[in-house]
Amino acid sequence: MTAMTELGPVTWPPAPLKTERLVLRESEARDRAAFIELFASPEVGTYVGGARLRAELERAVPEVPGRRPGFFVIDLDGAMIGMVTLDRRDAGRPGHVRPDAGEAELGYMFLPQAWGRGYAAEACAAALDWFADALPGEPVVLCTQTANDRAMRLAAKLGFTEVERFEEYGAEQWFGVWSSATPSR
Ligand SMILES: CC(C)(COP(=O)(O)OP(=O)(O)OC[C@H]1O[C@@H](n2cnc3c(N)ncnc32)[C@H](O)[C@@H]1OP(=O)(O)O)[C@@H](O)C(=O)NCCC(=O)NCCS
Repeated sequence: MTAMTELGPVTWPPAPLKTERLVLRESEARDRAAFIELFASPEVGTYVGGARLRAELERAVPEVPGRRPGFFVIDLDGAMIGMVTLDRRDAGRPGHVRPDAGEAELGYMFLPQAWGRGYAAEACAAALDWFADALPGEPVVLCTQTANDRAMRLAAKLGFTEVERFEEYGAEQWFGVWSSATPSR
């Protein structure tokens, strides 16, 4: 049933979304170890504020991590390999495409062993399809450091186009937008 959530009037959780190789689903308790792995990985943290201490994560991460509308666990053969998120962008941050701010923003983080196989692109495309069905015509924004080559290539592949670049967290940021009204595939 559709309900008003932080993301907007959406049905959450949707039935798991199946792609050629992956399943996008709500998080479960069995994902906790992979979730901690993701945030503790120095490689993953390179352009997103650095790795977090494992001990701190063990204390802070809830039994079922990341349960909120717009948070998809990416499942490959029954195990979590990453996450794709759609959240409302904080109005106080730079980068907006709507006068009232609060844009839906795409985020993605995968375990390093799952990089370079096209899994992130496959999962993000499915999440964007879901979003386009759930909230038709709404744009999605994305922000990444320009130094984050992999994230930049992925954004372009998904059909995001540049709106602006700005400095934040001591680095140059690329801010782009995607709309289901201009199909990328
Ligand atoms: C950003 C991130 C998700 C990108 O992961 P990725 O695996 O490079 O992204 P994609 O799914 O688009 O995969 C693309 C690569 O898979 C390769 N590939 C292999 N098999 C493929 C297939 N069947 N289909 C498509 N691509 C395939 C592509 O050639 C490409 O390789 P290349 O990078 O050597 O050119 C990952 O680097 C990450 O989690 N980084 C840390 C977190 C982060 O910085 N997030 C962004 C914050 S804004």
